[in-house]
Amino acid sequence: MEIINRIPRMRMLSRKLRRDNRKIGFVPTMGALHDGHLSLIRRAQQMSDVVIVSIFINPIQFGPSEDFEVYPRDLARDAEQIANKGVDYLFAPSIDEMYPEDFMTYVVTENLSSRLCGASRPGHFRGVTTIVNKLFNIITPDFAFFGQKDAQQVIIIQRMVRDLCMDTEVVVCPIIREVDGIAMSSRNQYLDPEERQAGLVLYRALELTRRLYEDGERNCPKIVGAIRELIEKEPLARIDYIAAVDVDTLEPLNEIDDDTSVLIALAVFIGRTRLIDNIVLKPEIEN
Ligand code: PAJ
Repeated sequence: MEIINRIPRMRMLSRKLRRDNRKIGFVPTMGALHDGHLSLIRRAQQMSDVVIVSIFINPIQFGPSEDFEVYPRDLARDAEQIANKGVDYLFAPSIDEMYPEDFMTYVVTENLSSRLCGASRPGHFRGVTTIVNKLFNIITPDFAFFGQKDAQQVIIIQRMVRDLCMDTEVVVCPIIREVDGIAMSSRNQYLDPEERQAGLVLYRALELTRRLYEDGERNCPKIVGAIRELIEKEPLARIDYIAAVDVDTLEPLNEIDDDTSVLIALAVFIGRTRLIDNIVLKPEIEN
């Protein structure tokens, strides 16, 4: 696996790959890789001739009081792990490489960016769409792989790709969980053992949601109320939001009818760590 730090080198390579008619699969990440990331890489390998992974902790998607400074960083370990999985190229640019001092252009997907996570993390999705746009321009992937774990991120990126006529197909991969059900996340590392246990409340809330739905409950405020009640019983948990929204527009829904899919999305602080999780309720249920 070749590790690339500079944009011109990455560009030269992607240009050559395209000239040679090789399908490029791209997995953008911020490192601290776990099985969730690896599942995206496996999918990329199935669908593409060449797989490029990026590791870049994107400062502009973190708020001033968020965890940019302490976000887990271990490039050597990450690189070794993905080299062993047969990844072809790792793009790991520096901050200066991506954001020179005179940088001033941003990409914003309006409306969608200010809902749910965007409401409590202003500017977050502007940072995500801007960096993903830059990475797409440098790498020119045929396919780009994203996890359903970050449901709103996926929806926003799909919208950006469509609105800006980007020549990349977004592939969405299912949420990978630990054996006890908690969604894998680089941020799980922040949890102490007691908090880690408390973090299971998100998964329990989604299981409850699935059960209610299977039993025929179609009223969103009732579903959200039941989730709230369950989470409020966990002393270490503090709810940021519980949302029942349309999967494309993120508009709040009241009743679920039989041909709409509903995204039930949660963000919950466990101590100081903010965890997210979600489930999509479809006529036949999907995760
Ligand atoms: P990061 O949090 O590192 O996640 C990289 C990709 O892995 C995202 O598409 C995310 O949804 C996916 N992922 C994380 N945990 C997962 C899990 N448990 N199951 C399945 N997929 C999972 O998301 C970002 O980085 C950044 O915002 C980025 C897109 C790289 C832009 O900076």
